[in-house]
Amino acid sequence: MIPTVDERTPEMVIGQLIGELGGSLGVLLTALGNRAGLWTAMAGAGPLSPEEIAGRTALNTILVREWCRAQAAGGYLDYRSDTNSFELPDAVAGALLHGPGAAMVDACAEMLCSQGAEFDEFVTAFRNGGGFGWHRHDERFWHGSDALTKVALPDELISAVLDQVGLAPGSVLDVGSGYGTPTIAIARHFPAARVLGIDYNEASVAHARRAADEAGLADRLRFEVGSATDLPGSGYGLVTFFDSLHDFGDPVGALAQARSVLADDGVVLLVEPAAADRVEDNLTPSGRMFYAVSTLICTPNAVSQVTGQEDAAPLGTQAGEPLLRATAAAAGFGRVRRVDVPAPMNLVLALKP
Ligand SMILES: C[S@@+](CC[C@H](N)C(=O)[O-])C[C@H]1O[C@@H](n2cnc3c(N)ncnc32)[C@H](O)[C@@H]1O
Repeated sequence: MIPTVDERTPEMVIGQLIGELGGSLGVLLTALGNRAGLWTAMAGAGPLSPEEIAGRTALNTILVREWCRAQAAGGYLDYRSDTNSFELPDAVAGALLHGPGAAMVDACAEMLCSQGAEFDEFVTAFRNGGGFGWHRHDERFWHGSDALTKVALPDELISAVLDQVGLAPGSVLDVGSGYGTPTIAIARHFPAARVLGIDYNEASVAHARRAADEAGLADRLRFEVGSATDLPGSGYGLVTFFDSLHDFGDPVGALAQARSVLADDGVVLLVEPAAADRVEDNLTPSGRMFYAVSTLICTPNAVSQVTGQEDAAPLGTQAGEPLLRATAAAAGFGRVRRVDVPAPMNLVLALKP
């Protein structure tokens, strides 16, 4: 049981910090196991000695031994002292190799590599309050973020959401399209629609264009550099925000823009990380992760876009439904419907003027 704040001693907090350091390094260890083939080599194999694991992976036995010990201390491997062997439990294999665990952690490790390299700059930006734009990360970050999108928003889920919204739009605008993964899913879902993705980060747009080419969709799927508060075109049947509204400096302005380019019978689809309505209900392991992402990634990007604006109101990554509804209302949307999706990490709203 976690002691209450009043019962804690400084020594206990140091212990907590040490656990935290192990956990943080564990992200890299788990990604290492993924990239070096260690998890795969151990899956279903029963107890194996470091020598046997090294033999299966063509790795250095001493390095493998230390990796195994670290993972056993972290609870991801079982250790048998009588045979000095390590076993990958079925539940861990299920989460890492048959579930999204390994891909998720690997993507985060990629993002952390970029964030580590730019950390001094980030600290300076945090201290001077100017924020830190998405474009200031490097390619590893954008790639890792896209890999997370592929885990969190697989094509089938996007299709299920679009089915629920029940439209057949002639044209679609995806705002904050990143590497274009959801945008491509939209174009596949609506084979007759013209689809445009816009993102302010040139490098992401260039990557998305290549992805559209490779998907064979370039004749009706385009990506352009553009700002959420200055949207191109008009008369869209659908305007989408996949995990992007909370990244914008002016979310009300972005939704008001979306409303202005929407067809009369059009819909805005808002996909945001799921969150409870009140801060106190988000103080959970998942909320902790999302608030950390908010502090280190999304909100600094938003703040970089509002410097000097007195009424700026970035949402944060755990906005919750009431604040999202209020933001939609402030942008002129009178009808807001929660879309049920079989994905507990996502909160999806359909907005109509
Ligand atoms: C979390 S990513 C989501 C990307 C994509 N929708 C996905 O789900 O993979 C947020 C995106 O918003 C973009 N972005 C941030 N501020 C923007 C702005 N003001 N206008 C347009 N795009 C912006 C970033 O470059 C980034 O690609």
